[in-house]
Amino acid sequence: MSQAAFHFPRGFQWGTATAAHQVEGNNLNNNWAAWENIPGKIEHGQKAGLACDWWGGRWREDLDRAANAGQNTHRLSIEWSRIQPAPDRWDESALDKYMEILRGLKERKMTAMVTLHHFTNPIWIEEKGGWENEATVAAFEKFTRKAVETLKEYVTQWCTVNEPNVYAVEGFVEGVFPPGKHDMSAMLRVMANLVRGHAAAYHAIHSIQPNAQVGIAAQYRSLAPGIAWSPIDQALAKMMSNFFNDSFTRALVSGTLRTPMGSVRIPAAKNTQDFLGLNYYTRDYMTFDLRHANTLFSRRYFRPDAELSKNKFIANEPEGFFEAMKWAYGYKLPIVITENGVEDPDDTFRPTYLAEHIHQVWKAVNNNYPIQGYYHWSLVDNFEWERGWTQRFGLWEVDPESQARRKRPSADFYAEICRENGLSSDMVARYAPKLFSKLFPN
Ligand code: FCB
Repeated sequence: MSQAAFHFPRGFQWGTATAAHQVEGNNLNNNWAAWENIPGKIEHGQKAGLACDWWGGRWREDLDRAANAGQNTHRLSIEWSRIQPAPDRWDESALDKYMEILRGLKERKMTAMVTLHHFTNPIWIEEKGGWENEATVAAFEKFTRKAVETLKEYVTQWCTVNEPNVYAVEGFVEGVFPPGKHDMSAMLRVMANLVRGHAAAYHAIHSIQPNAQVGIAAQYRSLAPGIAWSPIDQALAKMMSNFFNDSFTRALVSGTLRTPMGSVRIPAAKNTQDFLGLNYYTRDYMTFDLRHANTLFSRRYFRPDAELSKNKFIANEPEGFFEAMKWAYGYKLPIVITENGVEDPDDTFRPTYLAEHIHQVWKAVNNNYPIQGYYHWSLVDNFEWERGWTQRFGLWEVDPESQARRKRPSADFYAEICRENGLSSDMVARYAPKLFSKLFPN
């Protein structure tokens, strides 16, 4: 067996990502807690509940796991509704707790990337119209200032908004995230206000912490024509990709949000990214279909021969990841892979997915794409939004009832990658043997 390795540059950041509502537990004052109380919104009526009990203190043991597994960074989010439970009230004890967690990372010799908005809004914000209301922009800026003033000692890398495209589409087109609307013009307002919110936060953070690195986490979905030679399918895939993948990030370059529903000028957003955060999971194929009027006559599906995750949520499409990084490279900014992973309770699929996706990152690094780090989603199983607990993305399994953790083989595989700062043929032979000849041809 040949011995070979795909090595990464010195100082590469290896970590995992989590989000407040998904791991903390007892977040009862935000729009998701309210959504979970409406019958039919979450699979099997499940709730975040105690989640992974990080708020109760289990962040300690889970961050120990991360540190002992060779990870040198962690991406987490802070919960606006805890820090500002009412418009006129700051909860200093919540900020103290975040400070303790961030100090905990430092003690474990890990750096932190902190997300300010990861899908959840305080109920008082939601009641005033959430991101449909432009007043939310100023409120978000105020919250950002408070959080950054307090936590700046421990954080220099900030992610203002997680997946604004997913937030807008799931909440205002598909209707599966709160507030569950099907309203294109509301979606456009939300996108525009999120661009404004990001811009306000970007400038606020830099005024407090000039050396901060500020960006968003953009989900890039590879969208390919179903019939490769069909001009209609090609046009559909291109149009959808322009909208879903590009409109938000381009607005942060040009200061204009351009969508098929209209354009909005937001000059404050011009050149407001210090890095591009990239979340990548999978690729879809798109074809013209008269039965799908509500999605502009497009139907999405996975490649028929693609390997699918347990709930058929993710197809293994590593080349789509390379495409995503190439796309990100076009922005001429440092790139951070802020999320990538797969749901797989039995850990039969994850090792292959992990190896192939890390291999693509290595290829991109060797193309001189300025990729600084990789955050696997996720450290531990957690509450997966409208899919509840049916999807298990963790390197460690969590039983939300007993709070017991169990290590999956991929946790050891990823630990070897982090420690080695690379992916070796020996690791692939042990964890993902069927990939061996593909990744290491003779
Ligand atoms: C992303 C979200 C993250 C998690 C993963 C599986 O869209 O940012 O919170 O749910 O999907």
